[in-house]
Amino acid sequence: MQGKRFISGVQCTGKLHIGNILSVVFPTIEIAKHNDTLVFLADLHTLTTIKDKKQLHDNILHNTAVWLACGMIDIDNIILYRQSRIKGICELMWWLNCLTPYPMLANAHAFKDKSKNLSDVNIGLFDYPILMAADILIMKADYVIVGQDQKQHIEITRDIAKKFNSTYGDILTIPKEYIHENIGLIHGTDGRKMSKSYNNTIDIFATEEELHNKIFSMKTDSKSFSEQKDPKECNVFRVYSIIAEKCDVLAMEEKYINGKIGYKEAKEVLLDTILTKYKPLRERFNNLIVDKKYLNAILERGEKNAQKITEEVKNFIVVE
Ligand code: TRP
Repeated sequence: MQGKRFISGVQCTGKLHIGNILSVVFPTIEIAKHNDTLVFLADLHTLTTIKDKKQLHDNILHNTAVWLACGMIDIDNIILYRQSRIKGICELMWWLNCLTPYPMLANAHAFKDKSKNLSDVNIGLFDYPILMAADILIMKADYVIVGQDQKQHIEITRDIAKKFNSTYGDILTIPKEYIHENIGLIHGTDGRKMSKSYNNTIDIFATEEELHNKIFSMKTDSKSFSEQKDPKECNVFRVYSIIAEKCDVLAMEEKYINGKIGYKEAKEVLLDTILTKYKPLRERFNNLIVDKKYLNAILERGEKNAQKITEEVKNFIVVE
């Protein structure tokens, strides 16, 4: 994969939580250490759901600080940018729109899932995969870092890129998906899949008090300290098992089974593990989040560098 360009885009519908960080942020940073990698905040995609500009802006700055605190800051050549600041993405999207057969989008899984009630669907949601294709193709990316659920969007991107090339000549790079390894289902504080929409996320950058409240409000059954407990049925244990070291997880499992721990103590251990494990990241985050000027400067630098990469494709779509 030497000399190949990777790209990853993340929506800004909320603050990145531990599930996002383990499945997307850390793996992308590992790739960025050894490869030419572009990471962007997909603020235009976010407009399909969020209409509040202030909220969008806050999420952008928060998530920029998260990416940096999680290790991006140590990478010399960071290209971290806001999608909306890159000129040419929306223009390319229009060129791609005009090559896209309607049924290709109408049949996309992600759209079908959301389109049960068509009057609630905006055209942005329908056209979401084409904006995504434009993000990728304008940068001539070779690999797109995505989760399994986005695979179809990359197939659509490839189909349209091929159609573009057969119409206009060999301009676009045909990208491949780079699916990050499945780290398994990450359970939220209520036992369901961790998701912003369920309000069951754990934000490792929240204040100590917020984290304390979140963890101590987790539901458990009412078994006493010395009763035997089933770790697999316990939300506290499930969250602990994705964060803690393997040997500590095994030790905790043993305590559950043998009635050597109560839920209150288990919650204390979970909170303590989060605070200890992520202490350096939390400190870094706290310094970054108050320095809006610095965060903006990082984004602006990324935008300058990303904009340079778009020149080739952008120049092509100028009608002379
Ligand atoms: N749809 C992606 C998601 O929800 C985000 C995204 C937008 C993206 N544009 C992209 C990902 C381009 C990779 C490349 O996860």
